[in-house]
Amino acid sequence: MSDRTDPPEIARYKPFYTELEKGRNYLWCSCGRSASQPYCDGSHRGTGFKPVSYTPADKGEEVLFCGCKHTGTPPFCDGSHNNLLPDYPLDDPGSPENQAVPEVGLTGDARAVLNGGCYVFSPGKAALREFENLKYCAVIGPDFGAIYQSQFYFEVSAGQSPVISFGDREVVLFISAGEAEICISGKTFYAPPHSGAYIRQGEAFRVTPEPGEPVKFLASACPRADAPEWLEDMPDNFDRAEPDRVVPLDPSQRQGMADRYFQMLVDKAVGSNVVTQFIGHIPLSKAEPHRHLYEEALIILSGQGCMWTENLKTPVRAGDVIFLPRKQIHSLEATNEDGMLVVGTIYPGDNPAINY
Ligand code: FES
Repeated sequence: MSDRTDPPEIARYKPFYTELEKGRNYLWCSCGRSASQPYCDGSHRGTGFKPVSYTPADKGEEVLFCGCKHTGTPPFCDGSHNNLLPDYPLDDPGSPENQAVPEVGLTGDARAVLNGGCYVFSPGKAALREFENLKYCAVIGPDFGAIYQSQFYFEVSAGQSPVISFGDREVVLFISAGEAEICISGKTFYAPPHSGAYIRQGEAFRVTPEPGEPVKFLASACPRADAPEWLEDMPDNFDRAEPDRVVPLDPSQRQGMADRYFQMLVDKAVGSNVVTQFIGHIPLSKAEPHRHLYEEALIILSGQGCMWTENLKTPVRAGDVIFLPRKQIHSLEATNEDGMLVVGTIYPGDNPAINY
């Protein structure tokens, strides 16, 4: 360990988005004193801090160099900047600029389309297809501009659903209403309300509601898929190397993020390395506009608010799903006293706290 004694200086409270040149050596400033952020200019001399070197192997690699200098994964941001301030950075929805932003409504396909391919989809207003005892529709996918992930909405009123497969993709489920038994390639799990579930590549699944209550769920397929496949039989290929697949809500697992919190549902702990699902709380507020390097599907579980992009906005309420393309600037405002509960699926990504 170094001989440094002081905490680093905070150059700024968010990371630096940078496109890197293959093979070039970058020296990231760790002390926070450099005038050439995020790079070293030699100002660390005498502080005990040392710059961190990084050489990208790929052309055009996009990275977020930490600006707060408190990251646990130097030289890159790990979201630690969110907890250096007591409150999440906010924007004023009543400012003259924001008041002038026009509101868009739903189109015929139950979507309200914002800037950059971002949209809000209302499954309750969508035309559902039927297959055996399933009703379903596509929420996110190539037809709607997604590059990385697809998402489908399903309802099962009673009895075993057909066996559903997305081939060699990874699949993440979220039980949005009701409770169910989920069979994954021959192994059965109980899935309580608002739990997440993970299906590994090549596995298939079936969802059976508990008697007397329909179940509604969303399935994200990564990489994106055009449609689910229906199998005649359940395969017997459950990957026993990752035995835990259903993650219930658990307030003891919440992680703080300024005045917000989130709980990871599907992540590395159940074997999912590049698809991540979390549940989070947004208090009554409008976040400062920001971006992510991952593509995201956000399900509004409770509350209501407004989704903002550069110069458009649309109301959101419980049941809606928001599609956010990579790098799309946005802000999700909660407008009710209790705030909003949301479930996010990010891909490719493993940390919902990283924003820029
Ligand atoms: S900017 Fe330092 S952790 Fe994000």
